[in-house]
Amino acid sequence: MNEQNTQFVFDPMAAKYDRCNHIFSLGVDYRWRKKVVRAISPYPNQRVLDLCTGTGDVVFSFLKHSPVQDITGIDISESMIDLAQKKQIRFGGKRWTNNKNIIWKVADAAQTGLASESFDAVTCAFGIRNIPNRTAALSEIYRLLNPKGKLGILEFSLPASPLLRFPYNFYLNRLMPLLGQWVVGDKDPLRYLAQSIGHWHTEVNFSAELAAAGFKLIRKTPLTSGVATLWLAVKR
Ligand SMILES: C[S@@+](CC[C@H](N)C(=O)[O-])C[C@H]1O[C@@H](n2cnc3c(N)ncnc32)[C@H](O)[C@@H]1O
Repeated sequence: MNEQNTQFVFDPMAAKYDRCNHIFSLGVDYRWRKKVVRAISPYPNQRVLDLCTGTGDVVFSFLKHSPVQDITGIDISESMIDLAQKKQIRFGGKRWTNNKNIIWKVADAAQTGLASESFDAVTCAFGIRNIPNRTAALSEIYRLLNPKGKLGILEFSLPASPLLRFPYNFYLNRLMPLLGQWVVGDKDPLRYLAQSIGHWHTEVNFSAELAAAGFKLIRKTPLTSGVATLWLAVKR
């Protein structure tokens, strides 16, 4: 998928993106993002960057579930960043947003324009799969991280158990596009999602890509029977 296609898929979906996420994941997406925050477990004075932030759910999860004070969310889609900013305004009264430095930026994860070694941790939830030039994105993350900085990547995957994989594939490839028609008014974004998850799971050896980019894999954790996977790595 090239950058124009990325925007073609995500821009029209932006307004309905959160609803889709929570409906299609049956609400477990919140717990997955919280696992990313727990895996990174930043100190209060550390700087965190969330790439492919979408409407900012990982950023808000860090603010709620960690002591982090300084966090940046980046997305290539202006509509997504607009929604993240609106959400921040909505959450303005919450105690966990008080005195926090939150920065939003429209940028390509492969070319952020941010200073080298300016973050202690980088995260990316359900985004790395969509980036056409993943090698460039991983080397950009490497550049942005401080030495020993942490990287947390959350992605969809397929259950390892064949007993679960068959019904899950049916849900992903048949039911979700139908639900997509109902929720988003279009089957295509959900068809794309199912195809890209299948390709990512079977064709991509992401642990090897992390190693090639200079990261040391700490652990790879399947979540919810392998429907999602969390990679935790550090900059060597
Ligand atoms: C599936 S959404 C995930 C959003 C969010 N991280 C979450 O947990 O819900 C993927 C996001 O990646 C963004 N994206 C895709 N390619 C990108 C790129 N090259 N650079 C930055 N963002 C990108 C899309 O605009 C979209 O908002």
